[in-house]
Amino acid sequence: MNEGNYLVNSLVTFNKSIKNKFQSNQVESDTIINDVYSNTISIRYHLKDQTSNIIGVLIFFEEINYPQDRKKLVSEIELQTSISEIVAEMAHQIRNPLTILYGFVQYLKNELSRTKQFEYINIILEEMNSINALVKQWTDFSLPLKQYKVPTYLNRLIERALLLVKVLYPTKNLDFTLLLNQQLSMIRLNDELIKQVLINIIINAVQASKEKGEIIISTHMSIDQKYQVIRIKDHGTAIRSEIMQNIFMPFFTTKQTGTGLGLAIVKKIIALHQGIILIQNNENNIGVTVEIALPSNRIQN
Ligand SMILES: Nc1ncnc2c1ncn2[C@@H]1O[C@H](COP(=O)(O)OP(=O)(O)O)[C@@H](O)[C@H]1O
Ligand SMILES: [Mg+2]
Repeated sequence: MNEGNYLVNSLVTFNKSIKNKFQSNQVESDTIINDVYSNTISIRYHLKDQTSNIIGVLIFFEEINYPQDRKKLVSEIELQTSISEIVAEMAHQIRNPLTILYGFVQYLKNELSRTKQFEYINIILEEMNSINALVKQWTDFSLPLKQYKVPTYLNRLIERALLLVKVLYPTKNLDFTLLLNQQLSMIRLNDELIKQVLINIIINAVQASKEKGEIIISTHMSIDQKYQVIRIKDHGTAIRSEIMQNIFMPFFTTKQTGTGLGLAIVKKIIALHQGIILIQNNENNIGVTVEIALPSNRIQN
């Protein structure tokens, strides 16, 4: 049962029991407060006399037992939405002056010969590029996700994402093993967003790995045939159990230069696809395995 139905049913029963106690023209419900956090709904009634003057107020509280996970879901969605709004505003406020600064610094650079100042200006431009990359991450996180979906082979998408990560980390001598199930058919998904998911997860695996560490990427069909599953297994550092519950939170990071937005974006994109994501430490805490399951709604040819 969804949240809405649950609430409506509670209210209808609630209202009936109140109305039975008074004549209908004597009470009028006014405000309904649904407080998910304290598990209560309250209704305020105005009591009226024969000539409809308000002579009193009645407030009733009822405790409602939302299933725990639903309650958590609602508050998480609310939190994510308000964080998205703040981040969007921050990105906007920074991007405008940054664009103007960038233009002027570029202009100054063109005016200078190869002097010490020229070198400094290059450093300024590089730092501006880092700020710009950060602001882009914020924007990516806060923008509503596009809903288009196209028939896609997951295996091909993995290969494309991996190519990009290798370009980003040319110096790391990592050992990638691909175990791709060639039987997987096309599924409908937002290819750009799922590629983003794969890049974020593979980058995390690369960052957690030592100079030489095997990263195994495999694809499977779930036993019930309902999902296509991607598994990314690294052999780097494990995730400490006390932070496991935080890793999807926006801005949560254990890295010095991390944004903490990678997994927050991943979670949003997977939810958009009605998928499932599972992150757990490997046996003996040797690295981490990320499992993503996407509905395998088969494409009919
Ligand atoms: N493969 C992994 N191995 C170890 N820790 C990981 C892995 N993936 C994610 N984490 C943990 O989750 C945190 C959040 O990840 P993420 O949202 O991608 O942000 P960021 O990479 O910017 O820190 C990381 O800082 C790290 O502590
Ligand atoms: Mg990351």
